[in-house]
Amino acid sequence: MAQYDVVIIGGGPGGYNAAIRAGQLGLKTALVEKNPTLGGTCLNVGCMPSKALLHASEMFEAAGKDFAHLGIEVTPRLNLPQMMGQKAESVLALTKGIEFLMKKNKIDWIKGYGKLAGPGKVEVTGEDGAVTVLEAKNTVIATGSEPSGLPGVTVDQKRIVDSTGALSLPEVPKHLVVIGAGIIGLELGSVWRRLGAQVTVVEFLDRITPGMDTDTAKTFQRGLTKQGMTFKLGSKVTGAKASATGVEVTVEPVAGGAAETVSADYVLLAIGRRAFTEGLGLESVGIVPDKRGVIDTDHFRTTAPGVWAIGDVIHGPMLAHKAEEDAVACIEFIAGKVGHVDYNLVPSVVYTAPEVAWVGQTEEQLKAAGVAYKVGKFPFSANSRAKINHETEGFAKVLADAKTDEILGVHIIGPQAGELIGEYCVAMAFRAASEDIARTCHPHPTRSEAGRQAAMGVEGWTMQS
Ligand code: FAD
Ligand code: NAI
Repeated sequence: MAQYDVVIIGGGPGGYNAAIRAGQLGLKTALVEKNPTLGGTCLNVGCMPSKALLHASEMFEAAGKDFAHLGIEVTPRLNLPQMMGQKAESVLALTKGIEFLMKKNKIDWIKGYGKLAGPGKVEVTGEDGAVTVLEAKNTVIATGSEPSGLPGVTVDQKRIVDSTGALSLPEVPKHLVVIGAGIIGLELGSVWRRLGAQVTVVEFLDRITPGMDTDTAKTFQRGLTKQGMTFKLGSKVTGAKASATGVEVTVEPVAGGAAETVSADYVLLAIGRRAFTEGLGLESVGIVPDKRGVIDTDHFRTTAPGVWAIGDVIHGPMLAHKAEEDAVACIEFIAGKVGHVDYNLVPSVVYTAPEVAWVGQTEEQLKAAGVAYKVGKFPFSANSRAKINHETEGFAKVLADAKTDEILGVHIIGPQAGELIGEYCVAMAFRAASEDIARTCHPHPTRSEAGRQAAMGVEGWTMQS
C-alpha cells in the first residue's frame, strides 16, 4: 500500500495549490483527481473559459461599436467555432501547466475517484474500475462544488444549461433567459448578449448581485440595462419546458400575482453552487456535512482526526483565490507551521464591462455593525486615462473608519476594476489609513489615480486627475 504524508482529493485551485505547497515543504504527497485534466472547476469549466469568452466577446462588441470612433473601420463577423477553439486551446495549455507543476514538485497524480475508507485510508477507483488504496497520515478534502438545481427546471445541457453548458453553446441564442442575477448569470449573460443574443435575467431578489455594495450594484444594473440586458427582479421561475427548438419558461412575481410565460431558445440556470461530496465516504470517518452539504471545519480541521478540508467544499466565498489561500494555510498547519487567511480581505471581481471589484466591508455591513465611517468617491468620468479611452462609466469608492481613518472597504466599478483592487488588498493587509493612499504618488495618466482620488475624497480634498 502506497504511503503518503498528505493525500489530497480534488485537483482544483484548492487541491493543486495544496499539493504544490506540500511538495515545497518536503511532504510526500498524492493528488487524486477523477477528471482527465487537472485544474478543477476553475480551469476547466469556470474562471478560465469564462474569462476567455468574456475577453473575446468584449473585443467583438468593441470592434462593432467602438472602433469606428477611434478611426478604425471594420465590420466584424463572428466565427463562433474559432472563438470556442481558442478558448479550448488556452484551457488545455493551463491544465497542462498544472500537470507540469505536479511533476516539478514531485506530486503523484493518482487518476480516479477518491473515497475516504476509514481512518488514514483513501480508496481510488480508476476508470477501468481498478481500486488503489493509499495510506495517508493526512487527507485533505478539496472536492469543490457543483451548480445548484431548481425544482421544475431540468438541466439537459442542450436547451436548459448550467454554466458548463453556457460556456459551449453551439450557436448564439436569439433569446437567452438567465435564472439568477449573480456573478455567473451576469458574466455569461454578457458574453452572449455581446455576441448578439437578447438576454432576460430573472432574479428572485429585488436587486442584482447580492453581497455587492448596494450603491455599486445599482450603478452596475444601470450599465447592464443600457447595454440591452433586461431584468425581471423579484421574480421566480417555477418551471421550464424544453422542446427541440426552445424553452417555455414560467415566471411568477415573488410577491404574488399572475404568472407569465417567457419563450426562449436557451435557458441558463445560475442560482448558486453547492459543496460536492458525493460518494466521498465521509461517513467512514464520521464527518457529517451541514444541511447545505458544506463540511464544517476549524482552521481546516474536520471532526475526523487527520482529515482536513479546503476551498468550495467548506464555508466562505466560492472563489479560486480563496481556495488557494485555504490550501496554503491548511498545508502549513499540517507541516507544523501556523497558517493564516484573512477572510475579510478576499476580494471579489465580476469580469463584465463595466468590471466590478471590491474588498472588505460594504456600506450596508458597516451600518449593520454600527461602525461610523467616512466615504470618498471618485467618478471615472473625471479620470483622464478613462476619458481618453472613452471608458468613463463607474466610480471608485473608499470607506474609512470615521475615527481612525483605517480603510474598511473599497468598491470599484469601471475599467480594469479587478486590477485596481489589488492595491487596496495590500493596503488593507497593512491596515492602511485612507490618507496613506491619498498621500502616495500614483502614475499619471492611469486609472489607478481614480482609486487615489477616492481616498483623497475621504478627507474632502479630491482633485481632478
Ligand atoms: P474545484 O475547482 O471545484 O475542484 C474540485 C476538483 O475535485 C474537481 O476537479 C473535481 O473533479 C474533483 N473531485 C471532486 N470529487 C472528487 C473525488 N471524489 N475524487 C477525485 N476527484 C474529485 N472563481 C474566481 O475566483 N474567479 C473567477 O473568475 C471565477 N469564475 C468562475 C466561473 C464559473 C462559470 C464558475 C462555475 C466558477 C467560477 N469561479 C471563479 C469559482 C471557482 O471556479 C471555484 O471557487 C474554484 O474552482 C474552487 O476550487 P476548489 O479547488 O475548491 O474546487
Ligand atoms: P450567485 O450566488 O453569485 O448568484 C445566484 C443568484 O441567483 C443570486 O442573485 C440569487 O438571489 C439568485 N437566485 C437564487 N435562487 C433563485 C431562484 N429560484 N430564482 C431566481 N433567482 C434565484 O451564484 P452563481 O452566479 O451561480 O455563481 C456561483 C458562484 O461561483 C459565485 O457565488 C462565485 O462564488 C463563483 N463565481 C465567481 C466568479 C468570479 O469571481 N468572477 C465568476 C463566476 C462564478
